[in-house]
Amino acid sequence: MKRFAMVAGARPNFMKIAPILRDLDARDDVQTTLIHTGQHYDRNLSDVFFEELGIRKPDLSLGVGSGSHAKQTADVMIAIERILVEAAEDQLPFDRMIVVGDVNSTMAAAIAATKLNVPVAHVEAGLRSFDRNMPEEINRMVTDAISDMLLCSEPAGVENLLREGHDRSTVHLVGNVMIDTLLTQVGRAKDRDTLTQLGLQPREYGVVTLHRPSNVDDRETLASLLEVLATISEKMPLVFPIHPRTSHRVDEFQLRPLLEKSPRIMLLEPQGYLDFLCLTSQAKVIVTDSGGLQEESTALGVPCLTMRANTERPITCSSGTGMLIGSSSDLLREQLESVICGTYKVGRCPELWDGNASKRIVDVLTAA
Ligand code: UD1
Repeated sequence: MKRFAMVAGARPNFMKIAPILRDLDARDDVQTTLIHTGQHYDRNLSDVFFEELGIRKPDLSLGVGSGSHAKQTADVMIAIERILVEAAEDQLPFDRMIVVGDVNSTMAAAIAATKLNVPVAHVEAGLRSFDRNMPEEINRMVTDAISDMLLCSEPAGVENLLREGHDRSTVHLVGNVMIDTLLTQVGRAKDRDTLTQLGLQPREYGVVTLHRPSNVDDRETLASLLEVLATISEKMPLVFPIHPRTSHRVDEFQLRPLLEKSPRIMLLEPQGYLDFLCLTSQAKVIVTDSGGLQEESTALGVPCLTMRANTERPITCSSGTGMLIGSSSDLLREQLESVICGTYKVGRCPELWDGNASKRIVDVLTAA
């Protein structure tokens, strides 16, 4: 019997662990302990995802909560170290740690495990924005450097890892496991009455999300982005589920009136997985700085205007529906026009974003 520990902590982790945990639990030669770090703790950033995606209750909840990067990372490391040490003392050591994505919990768990000689598998390995101002870029680099099983979602991930000197035998192109979840849930999501509740018609509205520190932590940048949204909303209603980080900044920078003067910007609380997928799958356009949403837009075939200067997920722009807009309001306006008049490019869904990534991941995990 192999014993795996799997760690999840923040919203974008949950849709990645769901299919892998389900497929691991279906096997009788593997026992998986699910550890929730508690990096995200609000119901609509965490519990809702467990309920809607049918993820079983975590075996262990660390409750680390929010904090500075060092504090949050350190708290996760200390708690994970204790779990791994106690398991070894009980003669039930873990054979492997599985981490997903690029949040602080991902890196912290990888460091704690590696230092105790528990090998680490990283799902979504090798992605690089080459922008070290992004906390996630540091998390990705550190996690990959110390993981011995690197599971990649797109070819750029493989290329980056080989260039960084990883042995070919440790790098596996398995596809995008988050798209497994999307394909499983999209039918159910579209059946919801989310659009009716909001008075929206399919393909006649845009969905906006913004939460990157580079976009929301600076008053001037955030104000100029909100101005652009206000202008766009005159042409097309915009649904804007607002992340707590962004909401705090909007208040701190006294920008709430700017949003309130635009009646066609519909501010919502962060949405659960299904309501959000109901919205994105039927949107005319998505405007976002989220990593995951760039990929989901490509899988859904919905134009995605990415409010970032770079992306660690280049396939969304090279063959998908994504386009890098940076924080240029002119480019955003121009590309929105192109979406509205139907001249925006058509993308295609990348290879191995086919709903079977989790099976390939479990094959690699259990073959080792
Ligand atoms: C984190 C991840 C980011 C991911 C995002 C998705 C890191 C470095 N960042 O960013 O990669 O895209 O999650 O949401 O790991 N807060 C709440 N309720 C919660 C959690 C947080 O209100 O349940 C508030 C707190 O004020 C907190 C702030 O949001 O200080 C930021 O939370 P944090 O987890 O530090 O980073 P995110 O911006 O959510």
